[in-house]
Amino acid sequence: MGAIARARPNIALIKYWGKRDRDRNLPAVGSISITLEDLYTEMAVEFDADLAEDSLVVNDEDSPGLLPRISRSLDAVAGNSRPRARVRSECNFPIAAGLASSASAFAALVVAASAAAGRDRSVAELASLAGFASGSAARSLYGGFVELRNGDDDIAVESLADAADWPLRVIAAVTASAPKPVSSGEAMEISRRASPFYRRWLDEQPADLELARSAIAARDFSKLADVAEHNCLKMHSVMWASRPPVVYWNAATLSCLQTVRDLQSRGHGVFFTIDAGPQVKAVCLQGAAAEVADALAQTPGVESVLASGIGAGAALVDKP
Ligand code: DP6
Repeated sequence: MGAIARARPNIALIKYWGKRDRDRNLPAVGSISITLEDLYTEMAVEFDADLAEDSLVVNDEDSPGLLPRISRSLDAVAGNSRPRARVRSECNFPIAAGLASSASAFAALVVAASAAAGRDRSVAELASLAGFASGSAARSLYGGFVELRNGDDDIAVESLADAADWPLRVIAAVTASAPKPVSSGEAMEISRRASPFYRRWLDEQPADLELARSAIAARDFSKLADVAEHNCLKMHSVMWASRPPVVYWNAATLSCLQTVRDLQSRGHGVFFTIDAGPQVKAVCLQGAAAEVADALAQTPGVESVLASGIGAGAALVDKP
């Protein structure tokens, strides 16, 4: 009883930051993201009644530290009395460094585990299961431009536009590849408890979502750029103002923002966004991609740049 699935990370343009129900991992706000094309996680899940325990191998290395979250997600997908599972994960980009590796990992996991357990579930059900494991993972079930709406009792995820409708490019500048010191879940909780700006963040999110939705519908790049940069800086301001403060940025993060400002002042269609890590993701029009990648690669402190288009949602992979 095994299956393999592939899912891609997504980059939030309007961010999920804060939980309204920590037990069910329900977000406090809606969010809008783009699913990437060229970065991916492939998960193989095999249930085996002869196994005594679950096991996890990530990029050919045993990873017992990550296992509790994986096992909890497998329980949610296949029930508490399920057989134990062998899980193998292959990821073609740095893990836990703010490139949304947990989103692609859990999206791929629920798709593979559901199939391996013989369950026939809708994409909406799979998104809900992925969101239970990691809020942002729910969005990676879908491709293109994706909105996660915060419903009364659950989340609802939908695709707002396909990649082909608006083929933007994303250039990620990696400024540090070590795992982050504070997980996004912990940092959200610090923001909720101890940031004077948290309430305001929640209150303003519907307006930012509406602006982004209409910018995507109209393919209005500068309108999307404006609200996405604002939403990103606002989320980080919530964290910076909390006690203790949470600052994910390093010096190179700020240098990358300067690079993006320089490119914008020379007329290039590009904007930045930053998640729970020091990497800067530059979203740009296709014609600007080569120049943006060059400029970011030459920015002091940038270790590498990864380029991607916008891609498809999570799916099973046929393998012999
Ligand atoms: C900054 O989805 O990693 O990337 O639900 O605790 O697993 P958990 O959080 P996670 O948080 C993502 C936060 C973000 C913004 C976003 O992706 O919307």
